[in-house]
Amino acid sequence: MKFKNPSTPFPSVGYFGPEYFCDRKVETETLIKNIEGGLSTTLVAIRRIGKTGLIKHVQYLLHDKYICIYADILPTETGIDFLNTLASAILNSVPEKTGLGQKIWSFIKSLRPVITFDKLSGEPNVSFNIQPKETTHQIENLFEFLEQQDRRVIFAVDEFQQILDYPEKSMEAWLRTTIQQLQNVIFIYSGSQPHLMNEMFANPSNPFFRSTVLLPLEKINFESYQAYIIQKFKDSKKEIESQVAAEMLDWTTGHTYFVQLLCNRVFIGSKRVVTTEVWQNEALKLLKEQEIIFLGYRDNLTREQWKLLKAIAQAGKAYSITSKSFIREYALGSSATIIRSVNSLEKKSFIYMQYDAEGNRFYSVYDVLFQRWIQNL
Ligand SMILES: Nc1ncnc2c1ncn2[C@@H]1O[C@H](COP(=O)(O)OP(=O)(O)O)[C@@H](O)[C@H]1O
Ligand SMILES: [Mg+2]
Repeated sequence: MKFKNPSTPFPSVGYFGPEYFCDRKVETETLIKNIEGGLSTTLVAIRRIGKTGLIKHVQYLLHDKYICIYADILPTETGIDFLNTLASAILNSVPEKTGLGQKIWSFIKSLRPVITFDKLSGEPNVSFNIQPKETTHQIENLFEFLEQQDRRVIFAVDEFQQILDYPEKSMEAWLRTTIQQLQNVIFIYSGSQPHLMNEMFANPSNPFFRSTVLLPLEKINFESYQAYIIQKFKDSKKEIESQVAAEMLDWTTGHTYFVQLLCNRVFIGSKRVVTTEVWQNEALKLLKEQEIIFLGYRDNLTREQWKLLKAIAQAGKAYSITSKSFIREYALGSSATIIRSVNSLEKKSFIYMQYDAEGNRFYSVYDVLFQRWIQNL
């Protein structure tokens, strides 16, 4: 398995191999242990923290020993879409020229789907022309085929909460029952909506309850990200003091995608030495680029929602948002109004709720750039 080099040492999309992957040692080890013990794992975290990256990393490390399949079901809306995505993922898991690849191709073809090729990536896309009621039967065919392989299978299903939106309401229960019987296939589920994922996997009344090991993904450890950033600049003969790297991590709140994005711009925009002035300049440019989008966001919020969002942005981590002191500090309305606003802001993904290490709830703005832009107003 070979990777193209990313255009800078700080890619903000895709996985480029272990060399461009920071830390996640404990999580990687846990996932591998689970897989070796035959346990499926569920990764839960807000968007852009590095769930997909971690899945790709683990699959890369294990690709000699396992058949590694990766399916992102975010774009799917029905059971048939789900089937098509799984089948395409199976087809893309192994190069066609290998013995196993040929076996997979002839198996998928035997199910008589239409196979087209993506114009940009050249990857095959499988689509079945079937009645909705035949979907489960076809998915069973896929799993049965994977069961028969000599090598074990790691099947990653990314953005798994999407199945809750399918019109086929019994999909979750059916899938659970079917998957439970598999012995040769280990799953990694991943999802970006913690409340939905927790509901699916941690609520006793739901089919997937306790069927997997839950692995919440936190931000990457500050010191190890700091060391990584310094090293990556150094590898390209650029200098950055640890204090400056720390400032960049603070500004991006250590949220992986935003750290990568800022480092990427700073890498391109800097000469030999990266100073505070250099990164701040790049950060301001990032905010300027997004301004029109942020203004649009603001126009779509009610006055109350906007006021609360501003308060949360100012606080960074906003605790006890209905408390007297929070209301006074940010001149907000009644706690009933706050509760209404917080619900709609969360639903629209402007903010997210999380528990800290002590088990206290706080709210933060989802998009770090939006947060910084609001703070600069
Ligand atoms: N451990 C890591 N080291 C460096 N960059 C990472 C790491 N994990 C993720 N990234 C980068 O951050 C971006 C967002 O991560 P991603 O895995 O897509 O998040 P998620 O799946 O949680 O939404 C990725 O495109 C990748 O470039
Ligand atoms: Mg992802």
